[in-house]
Amino acid sequence: QATLRDAADAQEFTIGAALDPNALRVDPSYWKTVAENFNAVTPENALKMTRLRPSRHTYDFKNADAIVNFGVENDMYVRGHTLVWHNQKPEWFQAWDYTDEQLRTFLRDHIHTVAGRYRAKIDAWDVVNEAVDDDGSMRRTVWSDGLGEDYIADAFRWADEVTDADLFYNDYGADEINEKSDAIYDLVEGLLEDDVPIDGVGLQLHALGDWPDPESIAENIQRFQDLGLEVHITEMDVAFHDGEEPENPLEEQAEYYRDVVETCLDVGCDNLVTWGVHDGSSWIRGFKDFGQRYTGDPLLFDGRYGEKPAYDAVKEGL
Ligand code: XIL
Repeated sequence: QATLRDAADAQEFTIGAALDPNALRVDPSYWKTVAENFNAVTPENALKMTRLRPSRHTYDFKNADAIVNFGVENDMYVRGHTLVWHNQKPEWFQAWDYTDEQLRTFLRDHIHTVAGRYRAKIDAWDVVNEAVDDDGSMRRTVWSDGLGEDYIADAFRWADEVTDADLFYNDYGADEINEKSDAIYDLVEGLLEDDVPIDGVGLQLHALGDWPDPESIAENIQRFQDLGLEVHITEMDVAFHDGEEPENPLEEQAEYYRDVVETCLDVGCDNLVTWGVHDGSSWIRGFKDFGQRYTGDPLLFDGRYGEKPAYDAVKEGL
């Protein structure tokens, strides 16, 4: 019986899951399921600043190493997530009274150290995550406030100095053609004009309640590709508005996964990561009020590692 990974390998398609280092350590079913069914991994949280930086001058790579090494040992495509983000910054950071120059040095050193450490192991980096706001304006963050809008270009250049990985801009809510993806289009077009080393755009594709229209996704992917960029689907999950579940939720979810995979293949996008391995581990239950707003069974495996209809649909879609 061919697995999802076999099907993906046969199409030269990269299919991944976001991983939790603890589950990897304590649960043999977890790593077995991942190794058999995926040819790509990304740490769900372990490479974020909050986890890597216990204090201003120190790093803790234990959990990130565990996931990255698991990926390398199992011959997988490893996606790094993420070097620059406004969320999940360490607690000490909030209290740090820095000068702009100190902030700049801190971010440059962070990128050099982290991207440099995994130079030979990480294949793609989400260098900058979620820098554009929902209305398409540039998001105001500690990075833009302290370093100016050039922090985005700088981050890509710093990463490029130490790694051969493909370098991505990654965001949510920009899967379809809309105000936000228009703004991201302008942003990356500007970066390319300025010879900033960017290789691709990551569309998170958290289909939570409102599912982006596959035709519009295809058009969107196409326009980024026409700029010479790669497009990856980086954090896919599929859930319903709470209370609006249809009669056959698992079937409808499966159809949507299939549509997206087929759309992806049609336009030549060959890389898709699901945001977690099984429904029991999905972030949606625990994040803010998402657990109340969405019914949280969004992934390809159920909580007991059973293959859901969505699993078969992705496999068949490939
Ligand atoms: C989420 C993780 O899944 C959660 O475990 C964590 O508590 C918060 O972050 N967009 C991103 C991801 O780029 O990093 C987020 O991951 C989900 C939204």
